[in-house]
Amino acid sequence: MTSTIETRGLARTGSVTFPDGFIWGAATASYQIEGAAREDGRGPSIWDTFARTPGRVASGHTGDVACDHYHRFREDVGLMAGLGLAVYRFSTAWPRVVPDGSGPVNPRGLDFYDALVDELLGAGITPYVTLYHWDLPQTLEDRGGWANRDTAYRFADYAQAVHGRLGDRVTTWTTLNEPWVSAFLGYCSGVHAPGRTSPRDAFLAAHHLLLAHGLAAQVLTGELALTLNLAPVVTPAQALDPALELRPEDAEAVHRIDALLNRQFIDPALRGGYPAEVLEIVERHGGLGHIRDGDLEIIKQPVDLLGINYYNPCIVEAAPGESAHPAYPGSEGIRFASLDVPSTAMGWPIIPSGLSTLLVRLSRDYPEVGLIVTENGAAFEDAVVGDRVPDADRVAYLDGHLRAAHEAISAGADLRGYLVWSLLDNFEWAEGYHLRFGIVRVDYGTQRRLLKDSALWYRGVIQRNGI
Ligand code: FCB
Repeated sequence: MTSTIETRGLARTGSVTFPDGFIWGAATASYQIEGAAREDGRGPSIWDTFARTPGRVASGHTGDVACDHYHRFREDVGLMAGLGLAVYRFSTAWPRVVPDGSGPVNPRGLDFYDALVDELLGAGITPYVTLYHWDLPQTLEDRGGWANRDTAYRFADYAQAVHGRLGDRVTTWTTLNEPWVSAFLGYCSGVHAPGRTSPRDAFLAAHHLLLAHGLAAQVLTGELALTLNLAPVVTPAQALDPALELRPEDAEAVHRIDALLNRQFIDPALRGGYPAEVLEIVERHGGLGHIRDGDLEIIKQPVDLLGINYYNPCIVEAAPGESAHPAYPGSEGIRFASLDVPSTAMGWPIIPSGLSTLLVRLSRDYPEVGLIVTENGAAFEDAVVGDRVPDADRVAYLDGHLRAAHEAISAGADLRGYLVWSLLDNFEWAEGYHLRFGIVRVDYGTQRRLLKDSALWYRGVIQRNGI
């Protein structure tokens, strides 16, 4: 049963070659790697506050030092060059650039990204800048955070400041990383910063994040991207047999969660409208008054690239009487199920075929936008053996997902590139430093970097443009 899921439709052996010009890269995010939390005028972010709140982050870990990338970025760019990366996706920290969230820009914060971009370009690596990967300035949270409409306008000001400094050299701009996570883990289940548990605030946050995307898009030039955490939504039985006909109640459960997780963000951004099922749920959670006339016209901007962060499918089934999942207001009567398949150290089931299903569906339903995998990867319990990290499980994970990506391209998906999550082991949010996603190991005591076997394998994939 396990092997059926892992291998269905995928050749696990044999070589595959990606199209000419396929983009290979790796991704990170500011709070997860930079450290230097109080240097050069950086203000506090919601993650500094959250990490300092007892019980929020495993072992009380914080991003104060992280991978010390702020001081070691030249060494890190050297590692990227050695791997042959064409693209490096990183995020700029809003509280470094605008320490109070609004008002004066901090030139020293911009100096860091300026130097990083130059270092990358000097190494022949294209920078992909993400403007928001979850580190909201604390001052803005104190004024209501993403539940406050004004935050969207302050984001556009900040975007303009970053673009003003880097726009002569950076041509690919991503506004947001995973707004679903910002809104529903940050404001509804509360497992991420700022840790609120209000369904109403989560829907306000979701809309204001989309508004922020649209407003920022208007001040950016070049290639515009939006990165979403998208997943195929399936029943447990359907995960085994995609051709399966669903019972009507399961079909309804799948459709509703797909609306909340995927279409709540894709449809406004690409099509200028919310799915009817989402509006009906938001209506029941405090009304639609925050969606003002003209907002959807602002939100719908010409997006060139849809960034997809894929880790696993979302598995649900109808379960009468079940109360709503803490991160899915409106999911009453639906159970979030697990599957008896191998999983990562994060506990996420390993189902590579979910990536091909997702990519093919997106290209079919949204043919107007190019696709790029902006995150895919896995945490495993790595061991250091001498000067090696023999992470065969991560190699197998990446191999399976790249084959799935290749299969999607063969089936017609307009997939332009793949960025592994992550270049470095780093601060994994509520899990702190316990979970390691890097293809490069970081020894947090010495800050020594060590290429894992997966990094060496990935270098070979990039060289051959295939497996
Ligand atoms: C994604 C985040 C990224 C990382 C991975 C594991 O949701 O964008 O920062 O934590 O999960």
